[in-house]
Amino acid sequence: MSRQYLVAGNWKMNGGRAANAELITGILAGVAANASVEILVCPPSVYIDAVAQQAAGKIKVGGQNLSEQEKPGAFTGEIHGTMLKEVGCQYVLVGHSERRAFYGDADDVVAGKFKAAQSLGLTPILCVGETLQEREAGQTEAVLARQLNAVLDLNGIDSFANSVVAYEPVWAIGTGKTASPQQAQDAHAFIRGQLAAKNAKISNSTRLLYGGSVKADNAVELFSCPDVDGGLIGGASLKAADFLAICAAA
Ligand code: G3P
Repeated sequence: MSRQYLVAGNWKMNGGRAANAELITGILAGVAANASVEILVCPPSVYIDAVAQQAAGKIKVGGQNLSEQEKPGAFTGEIHGTMLKEVGCQYVLVGHSERRAFYGDADDVVAGKFKAAQSLGLTPILCVGETLQEREAGQTEAVLARQLNAVLDLNGIDSFANSVVAYEPVWAIGTGKTASPQQAQDAHAFIRGQLAAKNAKISNSTRLLYGGSVKADNAVELFSCPDVDGGLIGGASLKAADFLAICAAA
C-alpha cells in the first residue's frame, strides 16, 4: 500500500503577520508544481485565515488544537472546529504533548477532540509519544497503546480511516535529540500493529508521521523507514529553506 508522504509544520506559538507572509512566500517559491509530498502548515489560530488565503491551496493549512465541545457556545478562549474549517483548515493536531503536559489534555479529552474534529470533516493528526522516563522504564509501548486505545475506545477503528497519527517522543521534541531511525521505525511499527489488530486495511492506509527534532540532515533516513510516512516539524518549519529541505527528503 503506497501512502502519500505528508510533511506538516507545527508553528506552535510563533509568527506574526509579516513573518508568516515571508515564510509562506518562501515555501510557495520552493514547492515543485508536481510535488508528490503533501505539505501542511499549522499556524497559531489568529493567523490561519491569512495564511490559508496566501497558501491558496498549494499548501494545506491546519489548526494546532480545537475544542472537544460538540457545539459552539459559552466556552471562553476556546475555538470550535467549525471555525477552523471556515478559515480554511483541513487538518487539526490533537493531543500534542505540549497540550497534554501544560494544558491538561488527558487521554479522554484527546479522544473527544479527535471525535469533534472528525464530526466536522477535519482530519485529526493524533499525537502520541512517551517521555524519557517512560522510555527508560521500558514503558514506551504501554504508553502508546494507552494513548491509542483511549481514541479507539471512543471512536472505533473506522474513524482512523480519515486520520493521521504522529509519533512524537517527548524527549526528542525541541531537544535536538532525534530518535534514531530504528527507534522511530520500532514505534511506528508498533502503532501500525495496534491498528492492524483491529483492521488491517485501515492500518495500512493510515499515515504515521514522526516528530521530534526532524532536520534536513536526518529527514532522509527517517523518512526511508517503511512505517514512516512523513514528519511533524516544529523548529525547522519556521524557516522556508529548512522546511523545504525536509519536504524534499520525502
Ligand atoms: O509538533 C512537532 C514538534 O513537537 C516537534 O518539534 O522542534 O522538535 O521539530 P521540533
